[in-house]
Amino acid sequence: MAVWYRKALEAVPAYEAGRAPAAGSGGAPPLKLSSNESLWGPSPAVQERLRALAGEVYRYPDPAATGLRRALADAAGLDPAQVVVGNGADEILRLVTTVFLEAGTEAVLPAPSFAAYRLYAALAGAAVREVPLGPDGGMDLEAMAAAVSSRTRVVFLCNPNNPTGVVTPRAAWERFLDRLPQGVVVVSDEAYREFVTDPAYPDTLAAVREGRPVIHVRTFSKLYALAGLRVGWAALPAGLAELLWRARDPFANNSLGLAAAEAALADRAWTAHVQAETLAARRRLEEGLSRRGLRFTPSQTNFVLLDVRPESGSAFAARLETAGIAVRATESFGLPGHVRITVPPAAHLGRLLEALEAAQAEGPRS
Ligand SMILES: Cc1ncc(COP(=O)(O)O)c(C=O)c1O
Repeated sequence: MAVWYRKALEAVPAYEAGRAPAAGSGGAPPLKLSSNESLWGPSPAVQERLRALAGEVYRYPDPAATGLRRALADAAGLDPAQVVVGNGADEILRLVTTVFLEAGTEAVLPAPSFAAYRLYAALAGAAVREVPLGPDGGMDLEAMAAAVSSRTRVVFLCNPNNPTGVVTPRAAWERFLDRLPQGVVVVSDEAYREFVTDPAYPDTLAAVREGRPVIHVRTFSKLYALAGLRVGWAALPAGLAELLWRARDPFANNSLGLAAAEAALADRAWTAHVQAETLAARRRLEEGLSRRGLRFTPSQTNFVLLDVRPESGSAFAARLETAGIAVRATESFGLPGHVRITVPPAAHLGRLLEALEAAQAEGPRS
């Protein structure tokens, strides 16, 4: 059938989601460590709120996300007019590309990094300039600043970066921001911010408070374990927020997601518990990897990047899947020879480390 469609679609890469494993041989229960979900699950208070609201779903959700926006703004020291709520951080990223990009413009992004930047920029018809990460797996902000051209409208930063898990420090961020030409918007995607322990991590909310053209992006999918309900948000200057709201589907967030996110924010004890457990499990996972001589990048997130070279990430991941464990091969990020592993609760660590050691032992020798 000959129909007209936007040719920009031809440049849009397909999104590859983390695989769900089948049960392992011998009936080992499936363990999905391929999408950086929180296996601790949502707070019991969130679950209770969702059950209580089940009969209310005949109503449309609040298009302005009033309650959640107020709670987020209060916590961040901002005005609600400086907060946008979206259907996942993904929707925030897509709104940015809808508002600030079109054919003839350009986005600068790190590589390898989260695929959505490339995908949404291409969907908007913009050109993409990818800047390789530095040798430590963090962004090279000097090179990213140098890549900004007269056509650049948006620079996407991912801090800590997915899939490397590495933080780009404050000094580099501040130099970068000072070098940024007028008219360019910076997105700082901080989906994994709650897992950062590095004291050199930049405070990009401070830049928002100063009215700099910075869009600080967050999600309820990781620490708060609400990935299935799709709630993300951004802090940004009010003038930019207004543009994003204009482009947003009025009912982008459903009522259950909005209520769950509010309840999750209110349950600070649960959040602190999961945060502490995740950090402790990350430490133990990294210690276990070191003890077994497995090579990894020290992580500031809820995942760890394992170097499996000379093998391909997908061959290694396929072998691990026979043990019922799914991890993410990072070839689609442009990073062959690696897999990204979500940090699971401590109870799963023994099984995971054993399976990783076995998968490594069965692979080709370096
Ligand atoms: C860096 C980064 N940004 C954004 C997202 C998307 O988050 P959400 O589930 O809120 O759309 C992810 C999800 O994995 C991510 O890794």
